[in-house]
Amino acid sequence: MRLTFALFATSFAPALAIPLTCHSQTQPNPLTKHFPKDVTGVINGTTAIVPIPYAVARSIVPSEFPILTAAYEQVFPTLGNGMYPAVLEAVQDHDVGMPSFEIPDFTRVALKLPFVDRLNDGSSAFKYTPPQLISATNLVALLGSVIYGDTIAGTFDPPCDAYASSGPSETYMRAYTVVDSLLPNPKPVADLSFRTAASIPYTLEVFVNVLNQPIFGDGVPLCDNYITLLNTTVTTGQYAPVPVEGTLAVRPPLYPSEETFGHVYGYRMANAFVERNGVACESLKGYSGR
Ligand SMILES: *[C@@H]1O[C@H](CO)[C@@H](O)[C@H](O)[C@H]1NC(C)=O
Ligand SMILES: *[C@@H]1O[C@H](CO)[C@@H](O)[C@H](O)[C@H]1NC(C)=O
Repeated sequence: MRLTFALFATSFAPALAIPLTCHSQTQPNPLTKHFPKDVTGVINGTTAIVPIPYAVARSIVPSEFPILTAAYEQVFPTLGNGMYPAVLEAVQDHDVGMPSFEIPDFTRVALKLPFVDRLNDGSSAFKYTPPQLISATNLVALLGSVIYGDTIAGTFDPPCDAYASSGPSETYMRAYTVVDSLLPNPKPVADLSFRTAASIPYTLEVFVNVLNQPIFGDGVPLCDNYITLLNTTVTTGQYAPVPVEGTLAVRPPLYPSEETFGHVYGYRMANAFVERNGVACESLKGYSGR
């Protein structure tokens, strides 16, 4: 079903107002030469912690997997009673591939769910991928995501970067399902507006933790060992992460209900990554936040 939908959506993509030759403003992948045998790339966009009710997180994560409540309460002591830290990833994947196989850039947005006890060992933290919206123009990326779970073909504004300016120190991103984008005045499934903040309640280390938890979904029983680096040229110096505060409006299928979250904190940043796909989840036992 999901696969059919992704293929169907992709066959429609050329009819949409999606520029076929996007020019991303993101810097080139600094890792290509260092990891010749792995998939590497750059992600650039807005990454933020969205406190959501624990009951909602519990309703999304399959019931056979416990949630490591004590672990996230330790990492996020200021969340508030009954709240759970969902991770907003609204990013463009740029320059992704191996030296012999590069795929075109694509954008994705999802509210991912960290601190899931995928192995039922009481300690290893994994990140569950709920429905994820991915650029309809990128079949390889759509199929790569379908393997792990629900994937919806989408279109994005701006089309070739993960955000664009909407005022001094302020950026926006709007994401639409392909189906909605064929309608007049489509309503976004995710609508972000973030501005530079003097300070935010989370350190970068917290993001290292949640961005490096191995990923899984309700698709194949395999995991994605996705390693996000914060020490390459795209995350340091003039490209150092910028703390941001903003608002996220979401609705199904990205979130179970229509909701607007205010005072969401995170970083506008770019990161290089190394990805080892389709790994046995058991082999990733032991991750507890580096
Ligand atoms: C990330 O994207 C923004 C918006 O397109 C761009 O201005 C910025 O230079 C990019 N950062 C890096 C490190 O490429
Ligand atoms: C960057 O970070 C990674 C992962 O933490 C580490 O393996 C690597 O040695 C670091 N590179 C540099 C240049 O510090």
